[in-house]
Amino acid sequence: MELTEIYEKGGAALRAMDIGFLLDGVETEFVKVNNRRILDGFTLSQRCIDGVEAATTCHVLGVDLSTPLIMSAMTMPIPAIADDGLMKVAEGLKAAGSLMWVGTPIPQNLKELAAIGVPLVANVKPFQDRKKMFEALDDIQAAGVQWIGVEIDAGQGTKIKDRQMAKDCFPLSLEELKAIRKAVSLPLIFKGVLSRVDAKKSIEAGADGIVVSNHGAHTLDYLPHPFQVMDEIMEEVTDNTVVVVDGGFRRGSDALKGLAFGASLVGLGRPILFGLAADENNGVEELVGQITGELKRMMCMVGAADPGGVGRDILIES
Ligand SMILES: Cc1cc2nc3c(=O)[nH]c(=O)nc-3n(C[C@H](O)[C@H](O)[C@H](O)COP(=O)(O)O)c2cc1C
Repeated sequence: MELTEIYEKGGAALRAMDIGFLLDGVETEFVKVNNRRILDGFTLSQRCIDGVEAATTCHVLGVDLSTPLIMSAMTMPIPAIADDGLMKVAEGLKAAGSLMWVGTPIPQNLKELAAIGVPLVANVKPFQDRKKMFEALDDIQAAGVQWIGVEIDAGQGTKIKDRQMAKDCFPLSLEELKAIRKAVSLPLIFKGVLSRVDAKKSIEAGADGIVVSNHGAHTLDYLPHPFQVMDEIMEEVTDNTVVVVDGGFRRGSDALKGLAFGASLVGLGRPILFGLAADENNGVEELVGQITGELKRMMCMVGAADPGGVGRDILIES
């Protein structure tokens, strides 16, 4: 199946399900529309003379990947899309040499997912019940994941159109983030950084990485696309901080732009759901494989031999 077909077939299948509304965005849907508009606001500076043989492999926080394209944190709709959906996503991502990132609810079968051999990351939400949050951190650490994510942007839960989804959350303080850092021995990533101020505090709290993300339009309305704040955020992070970006990335060209802004990894949210809905584990593998193929082709023509070699100066802002 070609990429366009995966998107069409998977999108139609998901829309026909009860969970189809999960593809929508918060309140006015500005964030979803703006994500595409900003991604399309950059064209590419072609540097084809002396073109290079590009490789998409990368090594990030102790994990070897065939591609800088990874799954963005999600759990909720997956079991409803396919029987054993989480296992199928894990298998598809493993075959593509990618990484699986689960969200809320934390899957009961984390250990089983880890046993498949896919690099695995799990998130906690800033539950108002902080004891419950720390217990969740302990459970995740014991399950054999590679990294742990904290959804710093879900301090008021999540919302889709007018429907409040995750509830009973409250923003974490800098001191609480430092306490989480002390409690976590694995690499720790804060998801949902969208300003210089939060980037600075994330570094101060001891994060190994951040996800620059507007939560795919599931938290606050009128948040910017990551590209609107990436440059200021990149000024705050250290050379060792891993930066992941997500929000509306659909093709290799989008991923190339994310790398150009300084991200080491690019997250795919809804596309993973489309792949699963289109053709189960094969659909997920195909989806990641084809976007990676597009990225590799473009890297060659902008003179980037590896994901870290994609420079900010290949982007032409329109
Ligand atoms: C159905 C759905 C469920 C999601 N669940 C979570 C979650 O539990 N935790 C989280 O941090 N982000 C969650 N997200 C946000 C994604 O991790 C990611 O930031 C976003 O989807 C990226 O945008 P994209 O879907 O346009 O690729 C969810 C997104 C969707 C579409």
